[in-house]
Amino acid sequence: MSDRDDPVLAWHAALRARWLPLASLPEVRKGIQALSTSYVERRGRLEKRKALDGAARRAAFALFYAPLHFLAVRGVVRALGAADPAPRAILDLGCGTGASGAAWALEGLEAEAAPRVEGVDRDRWTVEEARWTLRALGLRGGARRGEAERARLPGAGGAVLAAYAVNELDAAARERLLRAMLRSAEGGARVLVVEPISRAVSPWWDAWARAFAEHGGRSDDWRFPAELPEELRELDRAAGLDHRELTARSLWLAGAAREP
Ligand SMILES: C[S@@+](CC[C@H](N)C(=O)[O-])C[C@H]1O[C@@H](n2cnc3c(N)ncnc32)[C@H](O)[C@@H]1O
Repeated sequence: MSDRDDPVLAWHAALRARWLPLASLPEVRKGIQALSTSYVERRGRLEKRKALDGAARRAAFALFYAPLHFLAVRGVVRALGAADPAPRAILDLGCGTGASGAAWALEGLEAEAAPRVEGVDRDRWTVEEARWTLRALGLRGGARRGEAERARLPGAGGAVLAAYAVNELDAAARERLLRAMLRSAEGGARVLVVEPISRAVSPWWDAWARAFAEHGGRSDDWRFPAELPEELRELDRAAGLDHRELTARSLWLAGAAREP
């Protein structure tokens, strides 16, 4: 399939054209390694805020981690049937460069009009980048600066996504967001949380999984064969990583008012 036919391949090509003039491949490789280390460590709030500082880390995130998140979230959405039927709109909390919300929205496009995506992120750079991602993928929506835990969540017909973002919140913000998500699902919205499989990094997971289960939701660990586009596979190898599989875990609430 050519880049013109496949919006995801075209997006990767556009990402490379956007980032490789700003950071060399060796710099991107170092950026990937730096982010890889910081993801597996439990970091303080200040270090988390600095995780996306500098061209190399931004390039590494935009070119490498965001597409990996896209593929993992797409796998989870498919496995859960989360885009069947498509939600009207997706609120992507801690949207980063917008990849995960876009993955869910594009799945919705298969059957009907793609949902609108609204990203919220506290970081100025990621908000700009998320707007670019939505444009690059031909999706409707936007992104704005804000705190995930203070966002107004949708009711019936809407969807809430927090991909690789809840772990960045402090305990009080996490608790606030959990309550808001449960209320949103009671109002009929679909709620999806995705994180890496690592209990050390997210000690809050089990409590969230219990809360989701008490509200009729489910938690899953996923393992998908990684069908990485060639350029992504090259970056993976160059950084000394080996993503033969994509793994992720999710918490899912289908929305109380959803039709059977
Ligand atoms: C690891 S990135 C994940 C980005 C994106 N969801 C993805 O799947 O690629 C985490 C994002 O959460 C954002 N973030 C962290 N704490 C936040 C908060 N309290 N409110 C909004 N965004 C937050 C960070 O700025 C960062 O962009």
